Amino acid sequence: MATTSSVVESKQRQPSLVAPLLAGVPVLLLVLWGLGALSEQDIPGLPVVPLATLWSLPLDLWVRDIATALTVGFALVGGVLAPRPDPRSGRNASLAALVWLAALLVQSVFTVSEVLALPVSDSLNPTIIWSLLTQTTLGRVIVIQFLIVAFIAILAWVVLGRVTGIIIAAAAMVATFLPGFTGHSGIEEGHSSATISLGLHVIAASVWVGGLVATVDYVRRSAPQASQVLQRFSVVALICVIVLVQSGLINASLRLDGVSSLITSTYGAVILAKISIVIVLIGFGWRQRQDLSRRYDEDGSNKRLLVQLSAWELAWMGAAFGLSVALARTAPPGVPIASDPATFAAIGLLTLAIPLAVRSVVPAHRWPSTPRVLREYPEAVAVLVVVGMVVASTVARAGTGNQQLVSLFLAAMLVALGLAFWTVMGDRRAIPALVIVAAGVPLVAWWNERGLTGGLGITTALVTALLWGVLAVGARPVTSGSEDEAAEEVIQA
Ligand code: HEM
Repeated sequence: MATTSSVVESKQRQPSLVAPLLAGVPVLLLVLWGLGALSEQDIPGLPVVPLATLWSLPLDLWVRDIATALTVGFALVGGVLAPRPDPRSGRNASLAALVWLAALLVQSVFTVSEVLALPVSDSLNPTIIWSLLTQTTLGRVIVIQFLIVAFIAILAWVVLGRVTGIIIAAAAMVATFLPGFTGHSGIEEGHSSATISLGLHVIAASVWVGGLVATVDYVRRSAPQASQVLQRFSVVALICVIVLVQSGLINASLRLDGVSSLITSTYGAVILAKISIVIVLIGFGWRQRQDLSRRYDEDGSNKRLLVQLSAWELAWMGAAFGLSVALARTAPPGVPIASDPATFAAIGLLTLAIPLAVRSVVPAHRWPSTPRVLREYPEAVAVLVVVGMVVASTVARAGTGNQQLVSLFLAAMLVALGLAFWTVMGDRRAIPALVIVAAGVPLVAWWNERGLTGGLGITTALVTALLWGVLAVGARPVTSGSEDEAAEEVIQA
């Protein structure tokens, strides 16, 4: 039973749990802008997709994916994980399903506009929309999804008993799986590995993200046996992470021709960015949730802590969704050729972002101590990092030797250099070393992009800004205290 104080607390104005997910919108738009996917392509002889569609369709897909996650999450937590079916979660699942329905309708119109390069007003033609819905795989998927989601919207609002809760959650997961048949998986009709891995990937992402929102919503209003729900969700989240990473990597490997495409294509660069975020998210889940569910049991006043931590986690998850939609709208690379240059983004992410993510996940006291020679000369490590990036760029362009092996070696070398750099930076705030790498970033950009068609443009500027951002984040000193102290540090940040 809820105590008086918890009832009072639950009646106070609660911060929105969906707002942090909005971090994905700028991420999505910046990536697409950098790739030139938000400007009209004026190719002589070909019809032009209108600007309104280029902007609106990805935003609609992002809203659709978030609404999917919230429907799945609230249905699962309220109907299956809660000790008794929870009507409020049911209503939230129903509302999210309505948004999902609206997003599907909007998707139909903008897809017509994109595929036929029609102005949005002409795309509202019912005959053309009907043709899309009945004669294409994408259209049929939208129709089946629409019917299932409409069923969820009604059933979750009207009644949420144990059996209906399970049915709604299962139906939501089936509807979530369906887009696996479209997009890049649908290119190769009947490519079952791509379809299954993408379907499972999106289900895992939806359960994880939507489940977190629904669990925090449940816990912070002191609903019955909240700590039990929190612990059950921790187990579900762990399974989701494993499925998400495995299915994501399988799916990526089906579209990329080995490590070489990972470092030489834009598609590969977006995947590297997703891998960095996944590492950060695993850190959140591993370090805080375990700790929190334990402390929550002992002291119910930790709800504020839970909400704060989850807000950070949800912002990263929103960014991952933004990258995912951008990825789905990026053409997978063809077979790499020997002299394909590495992308500047891949070089930077492998050297700075992924190692920093790894460094921030592992508690300071478990990180191996820095060899003295490195600790004493952080500037030398910084110079090595910049030289390593230049060497990687040069070797990738030269295209000599076995391409896959060389790419693997270059990727491993960059990550190793990055780990060494962030280890040194963790021990002491070596500002000159940081400045050397920050100054080296545009130098590497110029070296890598010189002479390339479309090189040194807006994408280069955005990646440079991103890498400077990573350096600024990593410049914060790492505490050498216990895991608890590390958790407190994240909260105060
Ligand atoms: C190891 C990390 C990850 C890898 C390798 C990965 C890989 C992929 C790949 C290859 C696709 C298919 C894109 C296409 O159709 O071309 C995809 C889609 C997707 N991913 Fe991931 N992913 C990862 C992490 C995540 C995370 C952390 C989330 C969210 C929390 C996420 C959510 C999604 C979603 C929602 C889609 C579908 C996007 C859409 O079609 O609208 N992924 N991912």
